[in-house]
Amino acid sequence: MSSESKPWAGRFTQATDAFVEAFTASVGFDQRLARHDIQGSIAHATMLARIGVLSQKDLHTIVGGLETILAEIERGDFFWSVELEDVHMNIEARLTDRIGEAGKKLHTGRSRNDQVATDIRLYLRDEIDGLCQQLATLRAALIDLAEREADTILPGFTHLQVAQPVSFGHHLMAWHEMLARDQDRLRDCRKRLNVMPLGAAALAGTTFPLDRHYTAELLGFDRPAANSLDAVSDRDFAIEFTACASLVMMHLSRFSEELILWTSAQFAFVDLPDAFCTGSSIMPQKKNPDVPELVRGKAGRVFGHLVGLLTLMKSQPLAYNKDNQEDKEPLFDTLDTLKACLRAYTDMVPHLAPNREAMRLAALKGYATATDLADYLVRKGIAFRDAHEVVGKAVRLGIDSGRDLSQLTLDELKALSPRIEADVFGILTLEGSLQARDHFGGTAPNQVRQAVARARAQLAEEAQP
Ligand code: ARG
Repeated sequence: MSSESKPWAGRFTQATDAFVEAFTASVGFDQRLARHDIQGSIAHATMLARIGVLSQKDLHTIVGGLETILAEIERGDFFWSVELEDVHMNIEARLTDRIGEAGKKLHTGRSRNDQVATDIRLYLRDEIDGLCQQLATLRAALIDLAEREADTILPGFTHLQVAQPVSFGHHLMAWHEMLARDQDRLRDCRKRLNVMPLGAAALAGTTFPLDRHYTAELLGFDRPAANSLDAVSDRDFAIEFTACASLVMMHLSRFSEELILWTSAQFAFVDLPDAFCTGSSIMPQKKNPDVPELVRGKAGRVFGHLVGLLTLMKSQPLAYNKDNQEDKEPLFDTLDTLKACLRAYTDMVPHLAPNREAMRLAALKGYATATDLADYLVRKGIAFRDAHEVVGKAVRLGIDSGRDLSQLTLDELKALSPRIEADVFGILTLEGSLQARDHFGGTAPNQVRQAVARARAQLAEEAQP
């Protein structure tokens, strides 16, 4: 195609170099924005007709043309041309092909700079709504599993060393808390995103008396952007979104790490369904937790996109610069990655099969009730630091004789502290240890069930429009 056919070819005397054309084109990836580009164009045209810049007849023709083009695109019948650079010029050129003169009027009072900024916001807004749905579904699955496993006991860890027994349901509700914050952050990000750049035109606004409030209303934006220079150049929302996405991925990578540890023969706390694992081409016995491993690995690329976008925006002078075209691929890849990882977790969580016996044995092995014994001594009038010392000796005795604290005899315990009586054995059991942590946010199964009820109520409330 010669330079004459480009919408901006008027002042050029030379055709674009073929490499430069390919190098500067974004249509290969920004065609994803087509639906939202058309949505924005229809609103813009509707507003132009309302202020009398377009006739009703032209508006009608434009809207009909754009709807037909959208159908073509969705059927996969649209020819995307690299010569036409990007999604915006491809659609506009096709519109003029189809409807003639009226098509040439659509770009009145608008620039691709405010157009693209609007398109990405519209697109990302829908995607955020979808992600919130996915997060809510995953949270509901975790809540269900936590309820079922409220009485299941596994060792809680600090430093990856057995620390104190906890309810498996409590552990799962910790995961839920992370995702609830993630969803809240996305909703918050959406608020700042939901501002309309359209009307800023290239950078300074336009000479037409645009009714930007009306266009914003048509597109469901809370308001038009307050400064035209900022409107076309701001990509904070993309960075903020990628930061939110990074936190979700960081959380998923933590869940993944635990699943990878737990499915190993050394822990054997949970089993993943075969459908979520793969085998080894050489070692016949292997069942590898590939899905959690990939999720853990994919966190890296999303963090990379966050740094990439920050670096893209760093030092950019006002207003629009072509650099901004580089915002799309990291954003799209972040979305694709996050959606796939959430999908993997949503499918996997309901099928996590806990090995309750292995969890219990592990909790029994690590002297997990040592703190309970210390607290018991405090209740019997011994200062906590002295109690700590006594229990340390009890643990030593257990290690030396290969026994758990609950397997020491009353005489042995009394030799360490005469305050210890027969009632001590009630608090040395795993169940006793859990039951004793019976306050808001604690691991007592009764508290876990209350946390489950609160989380369900919160989910239901968030689902209200
Ligand atoms: N494809 C461009 C982008 O994504 C659209 C805006 C182009 N504006 C311009 N002045 N060249 O940023």
